[in-house]
Amino acid sequence: MQVVEASDSDLEDVLLVERLAFGGEEEAGLVRDLLDDPSARPLLSLLARQDGRAVGHVLFTAARLEDTSHDVATSILAPLAVIPDCQRAGIGGRLIEHGVERLAEWGVGLVFVLGHPSYYPSHGFEPATPNGLVAPYPISPDEAWMVRPLRPGLLGKTQGRVVCAVAMNRPEYWRE
Ligand SMILES: CC(C)(COP(=O)(O)OP(=O)(O)OC[C@H]1O[C@@H](n2cnc3c(N)ncnc32)[C@H](O)[C@@H]1OP(=O)(O)O)[C@@H](O)C(=O)NCCC(=O)NCCS
Repeated sequence: MQVVEASDSDLEDVLLVERLAFGGEEEAGLVRDLLDDPSARPLLSLLARQDGRAVGHVLFTAARLEDTSHDVATSILAPLAVIPDCQRAGIGGRLIEHGVERLAEWGVGLVFVLGHPSYYPSHGFEPATPNGLVAPYPISPDEAWMVRPLRPGLLGKTQGRVVCAVAMNRPEYWRE
């Protein structure tokens, strides 16, 4: 399996992966909007290919912390998608690891995700709200809002409300 940074010419493959993984248009639409949204930059769009076929995709978009005294670059992981016949083969995990490695090189300190509380903790994520890192919208269940620090010493020291990209800032995207 190969993980590459998705380019403009990969757009149809990216959207197809999103549609197949989620079984609908919502996440594909979100990805399309975020790729066009200046407030989402810097962003990282990674595509996984197996024998040339697009099998997985992950998008990380810029976020910022409001009401904080500690300035730290932050990013939101959303969405993560693996096509149904390739799930449970480690592709999602490898996309996350590729992404956080690159973000750490860029100087990002915190990566947030709203997702399955049984999936992301095995990739270094932990509940964000108890660490004083508040989601853009109230989340239920609260533990679905998670954070992964990319440097030691950030959690506990950095607190505030997360402001996401404009295209993601709609209540329907913040339900788990
Ligand atoms: C969730 C998803 C991205 C995981 O990708 P993946 O490549 O299948 O996951 P990995 O192979 O890296 O990890 C597999 C492990 O994750 C866990 N896991 C996978 N999907 C899960 C899910 N939906 N809920 C909880 N745990 C899950 C399992 O523990 C699995 O291990 P197991 O096979 O030993 O039981 C993929 O299943 C997917 O695209 N699902 C549909 C879209 C979606 O829900 N995206 C995530 C939004 S938060």
